[in-house]
Amino acid sequence: MLVAGNWKMFKGPEEARAFCRGLRDLALPGDVDVVVCPPYVSLGQAVQVLAGTEIGVFAQNCHWAVDGAFTGEVSASMLLELGVYGTIVGHSERRQLFGDTDETVARRAAAALAAGLHVIACVGETEAVLRRQLSVLDHDDNLVVAYEPVWAIGTGKTATPELAQEAHEVVKSVLDVPVLYGGSVKPGNARELLAQAAVDGALVGGASLELEAFEAICQAGSLS
Ligand code: 13P
Repeated sequence: MLVAGNWKMFKGPEEARAFCRGLRDLALPGDVDVVVCPPYVSLGQAVQVLAGTEIGVFAQNCHWAVDGAFTGEVSASMLLELGVYGTIVGHSERRQLFGDTDETVARRAAAALAAGLHVIACVGETEAVLRRQLSVLDHDDNLVVAYEPVWAIGTGKTATPELAQEAHEVVKSVLDVPVLYGGSVKPGNARELLAQAAVDGALVGGASLELEAFEAICQAGSLS
């Protein structure tokens, strides 16, 4: 069971440090892998504060080149140098707002995995889109897919547990990897979503910004 908090463009270094100190001091369940995904500028603080804990720090994106003239991008080797454990790629906000395509997502995922990062690759609706987005990804022991229906992101609308289960089964039939559900996961709905057999964890946006809510979701993942 994996619970990952995608902070999106929230929490600069100071806030990140305070949040991670709080997180570090919680008694999180031992059977849940907990990950935070701060913005680039806050990764260093998160890595420092969480050093020596089981909590992983992931970036939200990663470029495929080692270095080069790519203004605004960050490479896997730079993330590794910082002590970052993994990265999200292909979030729907990157696809919708910043021009990421199946091809660039595939390149980002492949480069990150090859460099030794763990990867959460995001895919969305519909079944045809899911299948197309998955078709460019290859199985890897360090790859996890996050199924995030675009209509459920930041809207308060959540897929029913049955719908999540069905979509996750589709994902697993194409690519046999752990699958996280993302889209308005909250303390109140986490337990029934995470109880589904094909739901291997959650990628949490808004509710991961608040310590108490994020802790409750991590607890909901325990024994599921
Ligand atoms: P919300 O949990 O805010 O809906 O965001 C979901 C998401 O996009 C996580 O990556």
